[in-house]
Amino acid sequence: MATSIPADRVPDMGKRQLMNLLLLGAVALPSTGMLIPYTYFFVPPGSGSATGGTVAKDALGNDVLAEQWLKAHGPGDRTLTQGLKGDPTYLVVEKDRTLATYGINAVCTHLGCVVPWNAAENKFICPCHGSQYNDQGRVVRGPAPLSLALAHCDVDDGKVVFVPWVETDFRTGDAPWWA
Ligand code: FES
Repeated sequence: MATSIPADRVPDMGKRQLMNLLLLGAVALPSTGMLIPYTYFFVPPGSGSATGGTVAKDALGNDVLAEQWLKAHGPGDRTLTQGLKGDPTYLVVEKDRTLATYGINAVCTHLGCVVPWNAAENKFICPCHGSQYNDQGRVVRGPAPLSLALAHCDVDDGKVVFVPWVETDFRTGDAPWWA
Protein backbone atom coordinates (compact mmCIF):
# COMPACT_ATOMS: atom_id res chain seq x y z
CA MET A 1 0.00 0.00 0.00
CA ALA A 2 1.47 3.32 -1.03
CA THR A 3 2.03 5.95 1.60
CA SER A 4 0.65 9.29 0.55
CA ILE A 5 2.59 12.48 1.34
CA PRO A 6 0.52 15.31 2.69
CA ALA A 7 -0.04 17.96 0.02
CA ASP A 8 1.56 20.72 2.14
CA ARG A 9 4.86 18.69 2.29
CA VAL A 10 5.24 18.38 -1.53
CA PRO A 11 7.22 21.30 -3.05
CA ASP A 12 5.39 23.07 -5.84
CA MET A 13 6.51 22.72 -9.47
CA GLY A 14 8.47 26.01 -9.52
CA LYS A 15 10.56 24.96 -6.52
CA ARG A 16 11.18 21.52 -8.00
CA GLN A 17 12.39 23.02 -11.27
CA LEU A 18 14.67 25.37 -9.36
CA MET A 19 16.09 22.45 -7.36
CA ASN A 20 16.65 20.47 -10.58
CA LEU A 21 18.48 23.40 -12.15
CA LEU A 22 20.70 23.83 -9.08
CA LEU A 23 21.45 20.11 -9.10
CA LEU A 24 22.29 20.20 -12.80
CA GLY A 25 24.62 23.15 -12.24
CA ALA A 26 26.29 21.42 -9.30
CA VAL A 27 27.03 18.36 -11.48
CA ALA A 28 27.79 20.11 -14.77
CA LEU A 29 30.29 22.71 -13.54
CA PRO A 30 32.85 20.34 -11.98
CA SER A 31 32.32 17.85 -14.84
CA THR A 32 33.11 20.51 -17.43
CA GLY A 33 36.09 21.60 -15.37
CA MET A 34 37.44 18.05 -15.44
CA LEU A 35 36.60 17.52 -19.11
CA ILE A 36 38.76 20.41 -20.36
CA PRO A 37 42.13 19.13 -19.05
CA TYR A 38 41.12 15.60 -20.05
CA THR A 39 40.41 16.74 -23.61
CA TYR A 40 43.65 18.72 -23.75
CA PHE A 41 45.57 15.65 -22.64
CA PHE A 42 44.40 13.67 -25.64
CA VAL A 43 44.14 16.54 -28.12
CA PRO A 44 47.06 18.88 -27.41
CA PRO A 45 46.52 22.44 -28.56
CA GLY A 46 47.97 23.04 -32.02
CA SER A 47 50.36 25.72 -33.04
CA GLY A 48 47.79 27.50 -35.09
CA SER A 49 48.94 25.82 -38.26
CA ALA A 50 46.42 24.16 -40.54
CA THR A 51 48.85 21.30 -41.18
CA GLY A 52 49.07 20.35 -37.51
CA GLY A 53 52.79 21.11 -37.48
CA THR A 54 54.80 23.52 -35.37
CA VAL A 55 55.70 26.98 -36.62
CA ALA A 56 59.47 27.44 -36.48
CA LYS A 57 60.68 30.20 -34.14
CA ASP A 58 63.80 32.26 -34.58
CA ALA A 59 66.33 33.13 -31.87
CA LEU A 60 64.03 35.90 -30.61
CA GLY A 61 61.02 33.59 -30.42
CA ASN A 62 59.31 35.08 -33.47
CA ASP A 63 57.64 32.98 -36.16
CA VAL A 64 60.02 32.29 -39.03
CA LEU A 65 58.71 33.81 -42.26
CA ALA A 66 60.11 32.00 -45.29
CA GLU A 67 60.53 35.03 -47.54
CA GLN A 68 62.34 37.12 -44.93
CA TRP A 69 64.47 34.16 -43.90
CA LEU A 70 65.66 33.59 -47.46
CA LYS A 71 66.57 37.26 -47.83
CA ALA A 72 68.79 37.02 -44.75
CA HIS A 73 70.22 33.50 -45.24
CA GLY A 74 72.12 32.55 -48.37
CA PRO A 75 72.67 29.24 -50.17
CA GLY A 76 74.14 26.49 -47.99
CA ASP A 77 73.09 28.23 -44.77
CA ARG A 78 72.15 26.11 -41.78
CA THR A 79 70.79 28.13 -38.90
CA LEU A 80 69.13 26.93 -35.73
CA THR A 81 65.47 27.53 -35.08
CA GLN A 82 63.10 26.16 -32.49
CA GLY A 83 61.31 23.16 -33.93
CA LEU A 84 59.09 20.29 -32.89
CA LYS A 85 58.71 19.92 -29.10
CA GLY A 86 61.02 22.92 -28.76
CA ASP A 87 64.00 20.99 -30.14
CA PRO A 88 66.78 23.02 -31.77
CA THR A 89 66.34 22.35 -35.49
CA TYR A 90 68.38 23.56 -38.44
CA LEU A 91 66.63 25.25 -41.31
CA VAL A 92 68.55 24.40 -44.47
CA VAL A 93 68.84 26.77 -47.44
CA GLU A 94 69.54 24.86 -50.64
CA LYS A 95 71.99 26.00 -53.32
CA ASP A 96 69.11 27.32 -55.44
CA ARG A 97 68.10 29.66 -52.55
CA THR A 98 65.02 27.67 -51.59
CA LEU A 99 64.31 26.14 -48.21
CA ALA A 100 65.03 22.42 -47.99
CA THR A 101 61.95 20.28 -47.43
CA TYR A 102 63.56 18.88 -44.30
CA GLY A 103 64.89 20.35 -41.08
CA ILE A 104 67.70 18.72 -39.11
CA ASN A 105 67.31 18.18 -35.36
CA ALA A 106 70.52 19.42 -33.74
CA VAL A 107 70.44 17.09 -30.72
CA CYS A 108 73.46 14.75 -30.93
CA THR A 109 72.44 11.09 -30.94
CA HIS A 110 75.33 10.24 -28.63
CA LEU A 111 74.57 12.06 -25.38
CA GLY A 112 72.40 14.94 -26.47
CA CYS A 113 74.69 17.93 -26.94
CA VAL A 114 73.52 20.52 -29.46
CA VAL A 115 75.67 20.03 -32.55
CA PRO A 116 76.95 23.19 -34.27
CA TRP A 117 77.24 23.57 -38.03
CA ASN A 118 80.80 23.95 -39.26
CA ALA A 119 80.58 25.69 -42.65
CA ALA A 120 84.33 25.40 -43.32
CA GLU A 121 84.22 21.62 -42.89
CA ASN A 122 80.75 21.34 -44.44
CA LYS A 123 79.74 19.13 -41.49
CA PHE A 124 78.01 19.22 -38.16
CA ILE A 125 80.71 18.51 -35.55
CA CYS A 126 79.73 17.76 -31.97
CA PRO A 127 81.92 19.61 -29.46
CA CYS A 128 81.29 17.07 -26.71
CA HIS A 129 82.90 13.87 -28.03
CA GLY A 130 83.69 14.66 -31.67
CA SER A 131 80.89 12.94 -33.55
CA GLN A 132 80.45 14.20 -37.08
CA TYR A 133 77.46 14.39 -39.38
CA ASN A 134 77.40 15.36 -43.06
CA ASP A 135 75.56 18.42 -44.37
CA GLN A 136 72.24 16.53 -44.26
CA GLY A 137 72.82 15.28 -40.72
CA ARG A 138 73.83 11.73 -41.62
CA VAL A 139 76.33 10.37 -39.09
CA VAL A 140 79.81 9.94 -40.63
CA ARG A 141 81.86 9.52 -37.45
CA GLY A 142 81.05 8.17 -33.99
CA PRO A 143 80.66 7.77 -31.14
CA ALA A 144 77.17 8.94 -32.20
CA PRO A 145 75.31 5.76 -33.20
CA LEU A 146 72.64 7.35 -35.40
CA SER A 147 72.05 10.19 -37.81
CA LEU A 148 70.41 13.41 -36.62
CA ALA A 149 66.61 13.26 -36.63
CA LEU A 150 64.64 14.87 -39.44
CA ALA A 151 61.45 16.92 -39.55
CA HIS A 152 59.50 17.93 -42.64
CA CYS A 153 59.86 21.60 -43.38
CA ASP A 154 56.85 23.18 -45.09
CA VAL A 155 55.72 26.73 -45.74
CA ASP A 156 52.17 27.48 -44.68
CA ASP A 157 50.73 30.95 -45.19
CA GLY A 158 54.26 32.32 -45.46
CA LYS A 159 55.42 30.73 -42.20
CA VAL A 160 57.93 27.91 -41.90
CA VAL A 161 56.30 24.88 -40.31
CA PHE A 162 57.91 21.68 -39.05
CA VAL A 163 55.90 18.48 -39.29
CA PRO A 164 56.97 15.14 -37.76
CA TRP A 165 58.92 12.93 -40.17
CA VAL A 166 57.59 9.39 -39.98
CA GLU A 167 58.63 8.13 -43.42
CA THR A 168 61.84 6.37 -44.45
CA ASP A 169 65.00 8.33 -43.72
CA PHE A 170 66.07 9.38 -47.24
CA ARG A 171 69.73 9.53 -46.13
CA THR A 172 69.96 5.92 -45.01
CA GLY A 173 66.93 4.16 -46.52
CA ASP A 174 66.04 2.99 -42.98
CA ALA A 175 62.91 3.51 -40.93
CA PRO A 176 63.22 6.70 -38.86
CA TRP A 177 64.64 5.75 -35.44
CA TRP A 178 63.04 8.86 -33.84
CA ALA A 179 59.43 8.18 -34.90
FE1 FES B 1 77.81 14.46 -29.30
FE2 FES B 1 78.88 12.85 -27.46
S1 FES B 1 77.18 14.17 -27.26
S2 FES B 1 79.51 13.18 -29.49
